[in-house]
Amino acid sequence: MAKPLTLEKILFSQGFGTRRYCSDLVYADLVEINGTLADDPEIKMDPEGLVLRVEGIDWAYHEKAYIAFNKPTNYECSHKTKHHPSVYSLLPRPLIERGVQCVGRLDQDTTGLLLLSDDGQFIHRMTTPKKNIGKVYEITAAEPITQKQIDHLLGGVVLDDDPSPCFAKACVLMDERRLAMTIVEGRYHQVKRMLAAVGNHVDQLHRSSIGAYAMAADLKEGQWRWINPFEMTQLAQPIE
Ligand code: URA
Repeated sequence: MAKPLTLEKILFSQGFGTRRYCSDLVYADLVEINGTLADDPEIKMDPEGLVLRVEGIDWAYHEKAYIAFNKPTNYECSHKTKHHPSVYSLLPRPLIERGVQCVGRLDQDTTGLLLLSDDGQFIHRMTTPKKNIGKVYEITAAEPITQKQIDHLLGGVVLDDDPSPCFAKACVLMDERRLAMTIVEGRYHQVKRMLAAVGNHVDQLHRSSIGAYAMAADLKEGQWRWINPFEMTQLAQPIE
């Protein structure tokens, strides 16, 4: 059993506004707990497993937010965007209020699996190359992909800003111009620069999985969902 918390604190922790505002939501009859209207913001309860209904919207309690999002093209992974809208604009307000951040960034024109969380340790674990967690990128290349290029990617390529080479951990040719490439680092424009370094060019880029977690086929572009505990173990699985 988790430590009991007041309803006001629970609402605050989930991103429904300041503690004062959360308290007022209860007094305004805008909060239900597991289907029952709440009337006391100071009432204490075990938050685990609670389903809140706040201002008409159902919200399952999550101590920390771990989110899988299917990023569409033409969105930037930044709060202060330059040329395109922000991925954060596609998320509900409580997630923004509780401070979820992108776990690494995808380029504006890259699509696919983007993780977001408000757990700093999780963000660090998922982004450090030390944990050896593979990220699979499906590349559509401008030119046919040759075995020589694949050997080069697997053998390591040196990018212009760093003398230490970066390696593809795995390459699976899907058709003449499509390659699924696994990497464990997240350097700036890494996949595009690796392809350029072997004499090809990325036309389209899509991230399909992280660790042993593949993005659900029914998660449409622009949609998000909570990651469950089993999926969390899949995400943490390193490359052997
Ligand atoms: N590598 C890239 O070049 N772009 C991305 O968005 C992700 C990895």
